[in-house]
Amino acid sequence: MTCASEILAKAAYAHNIPYILSTVGTASIETIAEITQGNAWFQLYHPKEDKLRDDLINRAAAAEYQVLVILSDVPTFAYRAKEIRNGLAIPPKMTFLNMLQILGSPNWAIQTLIAGQPEFKTLKPYIPKGLSISHLGVFMNQTFSGRLNEEKIKPIRDRWKGKLVLKGVVSEEDTEKAIALGLDGIIVSNHGGRQLDAGESTIKPLATIAEKYKGQIKIMMDSGIRTGPDIACTLASGAEFAFLGRSFMYGVAALGKEGGNHTISILKRQFQQVMEQLCCERIADLPNHLIKK
Ligand SMILES: Cc1cc2nc3c(=O)[nH]c(=O)nc-3n(C[C@H](O)[C@H](O)[C@H](O)COP(=O)(O)O)c2cc1C
Repeated sequence: MTCASEILAKAAYAHNIPYILSTVGTASIETIAEITQGNAWFQLYHPKEDKLRDDLINRAAAAEYQVLVILSDVPTFAYRAKEIRNGLAIPPKMTFLNMLQILGSPNWAIQTLIAGQPEFKTLKPYIPKGLSISHLGVFMNQTFSGRLNEEKIKPIRDRWKGKLVLKGVVSEEDTEKAIALGLDGIIVSNHGGRQLDAGESTIKPLATIAEKYKGQIKIMMDSGIRTGPDIACTLASGAEFAFLGRSFMYGVAALGKEGGNHTISILKRQFQQVMEQLCCERIADLPNHLIKK
């Protein structure tokens, strides 16, 4: 069975948009490079050991990735009450409700049984053989440290010759640091609100960051974008690209292999409709009422 990462990478490639593969994605750096002909981006969770960091960066370079994304908004793993309540954990908890839901989706259950347990394919070479799923969480905690600073970013900038993007920026201060470090872009992101309930909505700081720093660094945004009008607001507010997370996962969850293409097609149609309704030929024509501050 094709995993969600592969389905979405294929759809992104077909629509000529970037797919960002996570370090903890269910497909490997090499598989996604092959699917996207080297057009994918790779997102690095920051390893504690320099050796692992360098090895992941070297693999992405060898697979001819054009863009490396460093994640800055997971200094610690979040407290996600909803996930605790639903038993979404490593190892997964089988609750009565989960069992009922599985029985209600026999097709999914059979496909999942055939495919076997999802794996962190990129990390497979570094995970000790025979490590039980209950120890995987401990391994992840021991291996990665999300807390970033300039000292940790500098060696990555030196090693990575392609474009380097910082994801998880929401302030002018961090945008200035990214520029000073010689980074090529930022993704204004709050991780889709999954890290901190008290975080700021990304559309709010976007316009100010874009007004001040456009031209000095590429500015992109994600978090909370669900529709074509949301994309229009994001672009009108100064982002040069809008990324989405959950909408694509929903598409794949509902429609499997067709989910990626389906979601992108809906978004394209909705966005085109905004442009037509507002008589806009170019992004620069989008009216001011779409700029959110
Ligand atoms: C299930 C799930 C897993 C995620 N895993 C990662 C990850 O491994 N690395 C990462 O940089 N962001 C991860 N994110 C955050 C997304 O990259 C993105 O920032 C966020 O989903 C955007 O918000 P949206 O879901 O509202 O579109 C994840 C999001 C979800 C929903």
